[in-house]
Amino acid sequence: MLPTITAITTDVTLPAMPSAPPPQIAATHVTTLVYSINIASADRLSLSGVVQTCILAKYVTFEFRSPHFKHPPNFFEGKLYVYSNVKGIQNRVGEKMSKRYEFELGKAADILVKELFKLKVGEEFIITADTETDMRVVEATARAAFAVDAKPVIFWHPSPLGIGKAADPMLPLKSLTATLKEAEAWVEFNAKWLLYSTPWDVAIKENKKLRYLCLVEMDTDMMIRCIGRVNFPVLKEFQEKVAEMTRKAKKMRITTPAGTDVSFEMDPKNPVNVEVGYADTPGPHFLAGQIAWTPKVGSVNGTIVFDGSLVPLGLLKEPVKLHVEKDKITKIEGGKEAIEFEAWLKSFNDPNMFLMAHVCYGFHPNAKLTGVCLEDERVWGCTEWGIGNVGPMLLPPNGRPAASHTDGICLNSSVWLDNVQITDKGKVIQPELVELARKLGKT
Ligand SMILES: [Fe+2]
Repeated sequence: MLPTITAITTDVTLPAMPSAPPPQIAATHVTTLVYSINIASADRLSLSGVVQTCILAKYVTFEFRSPHFKHPPNFFEGKLYVYSNVKGIQNRVGEKMSKRYEFELGKAADILVKELFKLKVGEEFIITADTETDMRVVEATARAAFAVDAKPVIFWHPSPLGIGKAADPMLPLKSLTATLKEAEAWVEFNAKWLLYSTPWDVAIKENKKLRYLCLVEMDTDMMIRCIGRVNFPVLKEFQEKVAEMTRKAKKMRITTPAGTDVSFEMDPKNPVNVEVGYADTPGPHFLAGQIAWTPKVGSVNGTIVFDGSLVPLGLLKEPVKLHVEKDKITKIEGGKEAIEFEAWLKSFNDPNMFLMAHVCYGFHPNAKLTGVCLEDERVWGCTEWGIGNVGPMLLPPNGRPAASHTDGICLNSSVWLDNVQITDKGKVIQPELVELARKLGKT
């Protein structure tokens, strides 16, 4: 999920890079970078120099032919592939090089502070960010907060090497905790989540007035799509209707084109939590577009096929299939990623890491599958399964501990509440929901 760069192969001699990139191949959504060259020059650059130049040029794909190229017999083409989840790097480049969505970003930040937080004059508003955060989002939010006469403060710190409690050793624990304990409102834009870290735990427990909104790994594009272009009142109405129907059901079945076919029972003691994106009341809040709950313990049976993304692997190249009996994963099938995932689960040496923890609907009209969990789990019409640790919010009164937690996405889900089908391959078909979905642009 986080920026890593792996240079896969090259054993060719690299020519000097041009000082300016050819203009016809600008691109911004960097996932795969291909550098294709013709060798006809004695100039050499180090691999890292070329990679860096490619990233600075913000190219997804480009081809450069050496200006020294003279004659076909000298032609040799080599390719350098850089597979990257370049989000953080792209964002840092973006700060200096891009005004992309400048106006739209301002509007999205306005919606965040006015509509979602309802920030008031004089309120102390903490914006947390680490050095992998898209600072355009941070600065736009601070400007919007200041414009409504709130008092924005940016708490910017180095990126820890882990998330949640694993971030603790590298966090400025004393100053961060003290700040959060006094804040009136807090938006978290950290790439390495403070969510579930010790300062987060203390702030949520001890600061009873705090309104917290979790927008981890948010970047400019996601901010425009998922905050700036959303009809929040309609989305809230839609989600609450889905949640109400879900609470009334006694049993559920979910299937997907990829092969999911899983059934389970509902337990009225387990709350169905609706995340509608508002942070105008005290307590923790999350991005809109998700509804989560824990099924009746011991009732999950069937096959679950992850075909979207899966923590900690990110976007999946091929499906990972789980066989589940009475909540327990009894077998994992698939390719290389399935083997890797099973090894990861086993590495905790904790049988609870093989237990299903929760299920969610994804219902954000603009969420895209990007490999960022926050957005992937909200893709319209997906269902998501959590595995491992489950907290008291979903499984009262004490939750069920496990060494870690992971989430996987099943795209294009068909859902039956008792015997009533509400979605078909990701499309909403339940009559009461269809009109609201249409208002959200989902037909
Ligand atoms: Fe989860």
